[in-house]
Amino acid sequence: MEDPEKQRKASVSGSANRIYDEEVKITGDRYTSKDFMEKELSKLWSKVWNIGCWGRELEKEGDFVTHNIGRESILLVRNKHNKVRAFHNVCPHRGNRLVHVDAGFVSDFRCTYHGWKFNYEGELIYAQDDDDFPQGNPCGKLKLNEIPCEEYAGFIWYNMDKNCFPLKGFLGEITKYLDMYDNEGLKRVYYKVCEVPFNWKALRDNFCESYHLPATHPQISDYYDDDYKNTDFELYETGHNLMKMKGSLPSLRNSKTFEMNEKLEAELTYWNLNPEDFNKKAHLVRESLQNQKKKLGKERGFDHFENLPDAWLTDAFHFNIFPGTSITYTANVVSLQRTEPHPDDPNKSIFDHWGFALKSNDSDLVASPEDMVPWEEVEKRVVIFGEETLSDVADQDLERASAQQLGFHSSGFEGAYLSGQENRVQQFHNFIDRYINR
Ligand code: FES
Ligand SMILES: [Fe+2]
Repeated sequence: MEDPEKQRKASVSGSANRIYDEEVKITGDRYTSKDFMEKELSKLWSKVWNIGCWGRELEKEGDFVTHNIGRESILLVRNKHNKVRAFHNVCPHRGNRLVHVDAGFVSDFRCTYHGWKFNYEGELIYAQDDDDFPQGNPCGKLKLNEIPCEEYAGFIWYNMDKNCFPLKGFLGEITKYLDMYDNEGLKRVYYKVCEVPFNWKALRDNFCESYHLPATHPQISDYYDDDYKNTDFELYETGHNLMKMKGSLPSLRNSKTFEMNEKLEAELTYWNLNPEDFNKKAHLVRESLQNQKKKLGKERGFDHFENLPDAWLTDAFHFNIFPGTSITYTANVVSLQRTEPHPDDPNKSIFDHWGFALKSNDSDLVASPEDMVPWEEVEKRVVIFGEETLSDVADQDLERASAQQLGFHSSGFEGAYLSGQENRVQQFHNFIDRYINR
């Protein structure tokens, strides 16, 4: 008979490929100072690739989206060559904001102030009294201020730095993973946005460690093994990182590691395995599911399962894309959470929660962060903080970050004292300072 303790030890395989030194002391002022915020806006956010929108929002020529970040606003539009262009959302005549809505379709962009019109290439195509400009007719001469834009992994990305590296250079090692996934098959089935009462970095720190899981999200330990000793971490010299957390495996911290639970039973049943075969052997579910998903994935509609490493069929691959975005990819469900800076208050930020899913052949419903929903693209929903959920797990994180923001103002807080498994938090702050000290 198998010795459960032996099995448990054999499954421990945690690792980190790199450790970052404490180049930066993580003190409260980094989250509360207006000066620091201004440095981040001018030297960090303006130099990185950001996700402007989900690609399916710009399906046809003339579809546009605006993305506001800090005090900047970026306009993204699909042109007639099926390419997305990105512009600063400002009229070059006298500085009026050009587009005031989040998204839509237009045949051209018309400035509300004096009526100038721009096409999808950003070219000025109409100016009233165009013969009255001593310096020459502005049409054919003036353009919207264009910035680099690329489409990748289902998202539209832009960079306000015209001299930036191409996106793939910025993303580095993580493209190897994103390329394996069925990004084209995803639909965004959950899309909530909320102004939250803490600095953007508070939640970023939170996504750079899983040390908080047992205390903050105890409800997930029956499905995810939150023990760092059994989790793999990859920290990259691009500032991004990846955590591979084992799923379909009750936490090895937990005395119930070997007992079956409802979540595992339901998953086994869905994949044509008999939960009774796993009585007191819950720690063996993960591997059996991987084998079964590899076998049945294609007929269920998940062709990409063949490309994924076995671990990805059960585990959460949680990427932090520097600076502001986290994306967690499980085998067929993806969630994106990000925080972006508020225009002028370091004590606030804008939180986005997007949920994506691939559809299986045998069900019309897919999992969203809150519940099972139809496999349909949804519109943005702006939520008032505290009045509506942003999902159970996110609510718990947001609550912690809000309380932490209060603590950051305390003269008694002398700076973070990090555990080894929180090294991604150190990496994150080191990279912020590398940007702002450039
Ligand atoms: S500011 Fe846009 S047309 Fe004058
Ligand atoms: Fe969390």
